[in-house]
Amino acid sequence: MTDDPNTASPPPSATVRVARRAADADESARASRTWWEDAADAYQAEHGGFLGDDAFVWGPEGLDEARARLLGKPEELRGARVLEVGCGAGQCARWLRSQGVGEVVGIDVSYRQLQHARRIDEQIGAAVTVAQADAQRLPFADGSFDVVCSAYGGFPFVPDAAAALAESARVLRPGGRLAFSVSHPIRWCFPDDPTEAGLVACDSYFDRRAYVEEDDAGRAIYVEHHHTLGDWVRSIATAGLYLRDLVEPEWPEDNEQTWGGWSPLRGRIIPGTAIFVAEKPPVP
Ligand SMILES: C[S@@+](CC[C@H](N)C(=O)[O-])C[C@H]1O[C@@H](n2cnc3c(N)ncnc32)[C@H](O)[C@@H]1O
Repeated sequence: MTDDPNTASPPPSATVRVARRAADADESARASRTWWEDAADAYQAEHGGFLGDDAFVWGPEGLDEARARLLGKPEELRGARVLEVGCGAGQCARWLRSQGVGEVVGIDVSYRQLQHARRIDEQIGAAVTVAQADAQRLPFADGSFDVVCSAYGGFPFVPDAAAALAESARVLRPGGRLAFSVSHPIRWCFPDDPTEAGLVACDSYFDRRAYVEEDDAGRAIYVEHHHTLGDWVRSIATAGLYLRDLVEPEWPEDNEQTWGGWSPLRGRIIPGTAIFVAEKPPVP
């Protein structure tokens, strides 16, 4: 969906056609990898200042984990092993490290994004552990992490939400927590326009076909998937997790920034981000 912050960066490859169609797990991951290899530089140049080198921002509204505390109490987090999915340049992982979290690993499908993580580390004298991997196939053993988190990383780009959540649930220990943000599903009804034109619903909320940008050979070069609120809740349950919270951050008065189709004007009227907080049941 072009309403997502991702597409605020200029299209890296020649998009010749936009389609609503199916795109499977492999095609989606391939498109994401290609897109983010090309878009990473522009994304970091445009949004790096807003994100902060070592801050944990959940979305364009600017809700910060330091305030939201969706991952747990600071004292609990300190001893935790944390995985960040779709970490980009590792800003969230770096914030977690700065809070004293001992083990933080970030994964991302884009090597170029991870190069930006290294660049920021060198600039500010930090060190986050990162690896190139797909959210749909995590290269970790079962029960490896206490917390899995993601700020718009990975989950907006997967066709099978239940399978991707099951994969995150697999690497969580019993009693562990998963928190992730995506575009609020209602945004898929509206045009990707930060002005009044973006306030008129014109697409069906129930149309689950992916938003696909294709090159001149019909290859997907950008794919984003729509899952309704019900789809997400059902997928969380199917993955064996229970939902603790669904946070819909309100647009703050002091955020005047426009990020692609996100703007103060729209943000004050319709939700832009959904943050799901779920837990894996403890062993009985
Ligand atoms: C909007 S950016 C968010 C990055 C970071 N969390 C932030 O807030 O800037 C989305 C990130 O998800 C990554 N991504 C997309 N599909 C992925 C997948 N299947 N597995 C892992 N990462 C993926 C992209 O490479 C990109 O870095």
